[in-house]
Amino acid sequence: MATPRSFSASGPLRGTITVPGDKSISHRALMFAALAVGESVIDGLLEGEDVLATAAALRTMGATIEKRSDTWHVWGVGVGGLLQPQPALDMGNSGTSTRLLMGLVASHPITATFIGDASLSGRPMGRVIEPLSTMGADITASPGGRLPLIVRGICPAIPIEYRLPVASAQVKSAILLAGLNTPGITRVIEPVAARDHSERMLAGFGAELTVETDSAGVRTISIRGETELRPQNITVPGDPSSAAFATVATLLVPGSSVTIANVGMNDTRAGLYKVLREMGGEIVTTNLRTVGGEPVADLIVHHSALIGIEPLPEIAATMIDEYPVLFVAAALANGRSVFRGIEEMRVKESDRIAVMAKALTDCGARVEELPDGLIVEGTGGDLLAGGATVATHLDHRIAMSMTVAGLVSRTAVTIDDMSPVATSYPGFEESLRALGVA
Ligand code: S3P
Repeated sequence: MATPRSFSASGPLRGTITVPGDKSISHRALMFAALAVGESVIDGLLEGEDVLATAAALRTMGATIEKRSDTWHVWGVGVGGLLQPQPALDMGNSGTSTRLLMGLVASHPITATFIGDASLSGRPMGRVIEPLSTMGADITASPGGRLPLIVRGICPAIPIEYRLPVASAQVKSAILLAGLNTPGITRVIEPVAARDHSERMLAGFGAELTVETDSAGVRTISIRGETELRPQNITVPGDPSSAAFATVATLLVPGSSVTIANVGMNDTRAGLYKVLREMGGEIVTTNLRTVGGEPVADLIVHHSALIGIEPLPEIAATMIDEYPVLFVAAALANGRSVFRGIEEMRVKESDRIAVMAKALTDCGARVEELPDGLIVEGTGGDLLAGGATVATHLDHRIAMSMTVAGLVSRTAVTIDDMSPVATSYPGFEESLRALGVA
């Protein structure tokens, strides 16, 4: 059921919040634990719908996954031990669950049908079908390489060396996961570094994995298959992609000052924070530490006058999910911002370039859509007109980004459906209320 909500110009945001666990790390923690032999314990797991879809799928393939008070306990089946799932695997809205689990199934002697909601069923799976088919899996997809699709895994699969045609951590991880149960060495060559949680965590679980980076920054990740994973205790840091919304709202609303504690600051994820600082945003990183093999910090954010920016396309992979809310920041900045080289945004939960261009235009912002990006003329700090109803197209990040736009709009902005927010940020509206948003 659609849950509409309206947001309008807010008084200052003040206080301290934490955000839920990192979505990417949570998926991986469950998957790797499900392949280890013995009990893993996960603290801080994101209990969003996407991650729960991963947990449900892993259970139907034999893993035991239980929540006991605040921690999650996983008893894995061992690499090669996944069982034939009986019902179709319902991936809901989650591209990460789908693509990574397709990799897992591909090198097991099982067959799985993947289904999902309308948003997920429109997303391209050819990017994983191609390498996994080369490894020997037999994949039958709906027209355009989409869901519903069936993966008939093969054991033993064939190890491959695969150069990623797009910067995608999901494709990289799908191949590495397939490689876990494949004899010999599977290699992924990554010309542009995408998030590296799989590499970090697989190494922690005892996988034989190496990463070499050449002088041009091209990474080669090699994994030796048919190894055993050792169960781990994992602490999941707060999600920098979720912290992005309170960060931008704080920068934009005059008088605001907010601390967001325990945020993952992995370089392959933290591009937004760099760019916002270059725009003049006051974001102080304190208490930098390492938690579960990942850098984590507390962020102290103050309202700041922002200036327009043209980020280098090379940084896109480190902030690909954060562009929608960055567009909102640019809409209030002083001057023009130009975002290019981000065509990948068109194949996320929605076409995020087109959807944000329409939503911001309807709210009175001056934007121009480009095939590979967006130009935004900022107001120099003046409120947007607002007054629009935003179509979120089952996309959580559109809903949350346009909520932030509502907080800096003269007339209320209505979000047609906040329910997709539950995929990644349960408690989003409570976080805003805790900071004083009425
Ligand atoms: C993710 C990778 C990214 C990102 C997604 C999560 C992951 O997708 O947009 O939200 O956990 O690996 P791509 O691999 O398609 O870039």
